[in-house]
Amino acid sequence: MQAAIVTIAQQKGGAGKTTLAIQLATAMRQAGRSVAVVDIDPQGSLTAWVRLREHEARDAAELRFSMVGGWRLGVELDRLKREVERIVVDSPPHAESDAKGAIKAADLVLVPCQPSPLDIWASKGTLDIAMNEGRRHALVLNRVPPRGRSYEEALQSLAERGYAALSARLGNRQAFVASLGRGLGVVESEPRSAAADEVRALLAEVEAALA
Ligand SMILES: Nc1ncnc2c1ncn2[C@@H]1O[C@H](COP(=O)(O)OP(=O)(O)OP(=O)(O)O)[C@@H](O)[C@H]1O
Ligand SMILES: [Mg+2]
Repeated sequence: MQAAIVTIAQQKGGAGKTTLAIQLATAMRQAGRSVAVVDIDPQGSLTAWVRLREHEARDAAELRFSMVGGWRLGVELDRLKREVERIVVDSPPHAESDAKGAIKAADLVLVPCQPSPLDIWASKGTLDIAMNEGRRHALVLNRVPPRGRSYEEALQSLAERGYAALSARLGNRQAFVASLGRGLGVVESEPRSAAADEVRALLAEVEAALA
């Protein structure tokens, strides 16, 4: 068995990397996959969520976890690849060498981005790293408000230059935040919510890209 690696990367801080990593990984798990989450961000947000999950959500489906950085990342990913079906890597902001390593190793690089022209333009740097490494990549709009489409033009011009974006988007929803605070993903905490529908639609697109 060789796992597919999905790396979540975005140089800009606070775009939703850790949120997307957790929501996607828990949805993969719920879809019946064996999944590992890998935290290479020294901030350790994903690690904190995993610890919370271990204590507060003991009945939740098992996820393999590893916190790793530097030269050990490649070794760890090679090991996990033989043990699970999906690996989701959460990376730090700024184009640190660890983030680049995780992009290089990825089958798919997802770049979360808030829906504003400035943030979309700023995502080019991260998308370029994925492109230059020949990695499949896609921008994922996150925290999309119910109204207002002022960012569509920026998205369109990015698409014209060959950068892909998922059609699935995550809304700006408290359900995402609340699930993390319980050591869960939203497909586990509120499976019938609009937020969970969004994550499952995103998963379907991700799986189609990996197929
Ligand atoms: N779809 C969403 N709806 C509501 N809040 C969100 C959503 N996505 C992220 N947030 C909130 O935005 C903040 C930043 O999210 P997150 O920590 O996932 O970003 P990040 O890219 O991992 O940040 P960093 O660069 O610091 O690692 C958090 O407070 C998170 O709860
Ligand atoms: Mg983070």
